[in-house]
Amino acid sequence: MNSFSPKVVRINLAERSYDIVIAPGAMGDSTSYRDLPTATTAVIVTNTTVAPLYAARLRQALLARFTDVKVVALPDGEQYKTWQTLNLIFDALLGGGCDRKTVLFALGGGVVGDMTGFAAASYMRGVPYVQVPTTLLAQVDSSVGGKTAINHPLGKNMIGAFYQPVKVVCDLDTLRTLPPRELSAGLAEVIKYGPIADLDFLVWIEANVVALLSSDSIALGYAIKRSCEIKAWVVGQDEREAGLRAILNFGHTFGHAIEAGLGYGEWLHGEAVAAGMVMAAKLSQRLGMVDQGFVERLAALIRRAGLPVVGPHLSDVDNAGRYLELMRVDKKSEGGEIKFVLIDGPGTAVVRGAPDALVREVIDACCLRE
Ligand code: NAD
Ligand code: GLY
Repeated sequence: MNSFSPKVVRINLAERSYDIVIAPGAMGDSTSYRDLPTATTAVIVTNTTVAPLYAARLRQALLARFTDVKVVALPDGEQYKTWQTLNLIFDALLGGGCDRKTVLFALGGGVVGDMTGFAAASYMRGVPYVQVPTTLLAQVDSSVGGKTAINHPLGKNMIGAFYQPVKVVCDLDTLRTLPPRELSAGLAEVIKYGPIADLDFLVWIEANVVALLSSDSIALGYAIKRSCEIKAWVVGQDEREAGLRAILNFGHTFGHAIEAGLGYGEWLHGEAVAAGMVMAAKLSQRLGMVDQGFVERLAALIRRAGLPVVGPHLSDVDNAGRYLELMRVDKKSEGGEIKFVLIDGPGTAVVRGAPDALVREVIDACCLRE
């Protein structure tokens, strides 16, 4: 059977540059880690679902390089992306006598990755960390680019830091144990790269969505590589989101409101982004930037990927008002004005505001009726 040939995508950020290795079996291969900083101690941060699947394999590979490899398993779920859970990492690091050369390994999805990155950014004012993403979403997006964060009850990813990993190791084999719902959620972040940056990639996803959903490793490998290349191109120009990087948040303004409004963990992040992309595309259409055909094309692909194309009701009293309230607590907001990532012709994105009345109309048109 054919298998995906290993690929390396480079993130170019001067002295903070690093490689993303994409290969079947990469996690358990000790050569994936031979260029890491010298240290005696490694700490694998993972969760209670991923630990029994992969922690022993990663630990074994790391023992070829580190004398002491500890494992910290956090509770699993978006609702645990909090200060309390972050403190469990610090408890383990301080309790285990970890010094400032200790290397952290984030083994898991985006929740583990974002929290481990934030812990690495702040433990002893900064220790190196490696991302070992095990969900599709984390392999195509969250493990790359150095955004780290925890949630606050009032807003998603509101407390965090920009802090780059020293390496990203994407093992395609880990995706074999991923539940289908999580695979679909990851596809949302794959699909987003098409409308914002690469129409050819959108065409490729449309032609390969069945292969992707059936976990075809060649299709998944290509989707991960192309997604990482696009993200590398964006992050390489705008590491700290002074401008361009915001386009990676296509669908996220509405999506974050859905996640916070329903309660973290109710809808998966990728599901909320999927419905959010349809809303953002619809808003783009209402502003005359794309035609209705493009909105329908995007929604059709999102539906085929097993993802929602309509948003949930967040309030029985004033649903659109509740969305607007939640969306104002967004890192892109300026002086209370909500900024949306909109599609300015297929394959190009812009960040701009929109009149509240128009946003209300779009929300009304795009939300589930009870
Ligand atoms: P997740 O981390 O919650 O993982 C999804 C589920 O899959 C969890 O239950 C996890 O335990 C399980 N899992 C992980 N790997 C598995 C495997 N190989 N086999 C079986 N089960 C496995 O969710 P996610 O979708 O990976 O990440 C979402 C998070 O990422 C959100 O918090 C979001 O805000 C964040 N995010 C961050 C960035 C960024 O740039 N930092 C970008 C996108 C999303
Ligand atoms: N996921 C959005 C970003 O990395 O900027």
